[in-house]
Amino acid sequence: MNICKAKNYQDMSRKAANIISAQVIMKPHCVLGLATGSSPIGTYKQLIEWYNKGDLDFARVMSINLDEYKGLSPENPQSYRYFMNTNLFDHVNIDKTRTFVPNGLEPDPEKACAAYEEIIRQSIDLQLLGLGRNGHIGFNEPADSFARETHCVNLTESTIDANKRFFESENDVPRQAYTMGIGSIMKARKILVVVSGEDKADALKATICGPITPQVPASILQLHNDVTIVADEAAMSKL
Ligand code: GLP
Repeated sequence: MNICKAKNYQDMSRKAANIISAQVIMKPHCVLGLATGSSPIGTYKQLIEWYNKGDLDFARVMSINLDEYKGLSPENPQSYRYFMNTNLFDHVNIDKTRTFVPNGLEPDPEKACAAYEEIIRQSIDLQLLGLGRNGHIGFNEPADSFARETHCVNLTESTIDANKRFFESENDVPRQAYTMGIGSIMKARKILVVVSGEDKADALKATICGPITPQVPASILQLHNDVTIVADEAAMSKL
């Protein structure tokens, strides 16, 4: 694992955006695995800035997102499709028909997951990840085993609590989500993890130094041969 220390959120975002832009420049038709949450927002902002300066071209890029809340429509401001549109896709020249997010409106988990598995047969060149407070990646929550493929998860109390800030009340937070599996994430050629803030310090320590266990889903990244973690000082405070 390559651990890259950033001074703060802004520095982390710029460093992460540098890695993503290098990927896009070196392979304009690359497949980017993208993430939501507050951690990558600054990275997306920086990419948009460089796009506006004419330094980046997303015309041939394809993107595959990690996850989506079950039951939320793309128009719902809390859905991850809406997040991706407003935080990145609407501001760059990516072809939206080549951006993929699981279909939160498909009520049948089997159908939703099978459809997404078809899409993610594409190999991902660079997968961007955030880190949940409990060590989750995508919506792969702590569990007894690592889930290989796209599946429907019941969100844990910790995740519902962490994500309620985006909703009007805790009751509005969906209890289930569709997420790409750990197996699909691990198949990406390169993985980039952005981690910011003291509330991630325990999860980051367990990810890097702890045993590889499905109780800390991100710990599996120790087995990947091309992972870069960009973390700010607060997130690294327990290392
Ligand atoms: C959600 C997302 C994850 C994300 C995590 C951390 O649960 N499904 O992909 O990494 O939140 O979010 P944040 O970056 O807001 O702390």
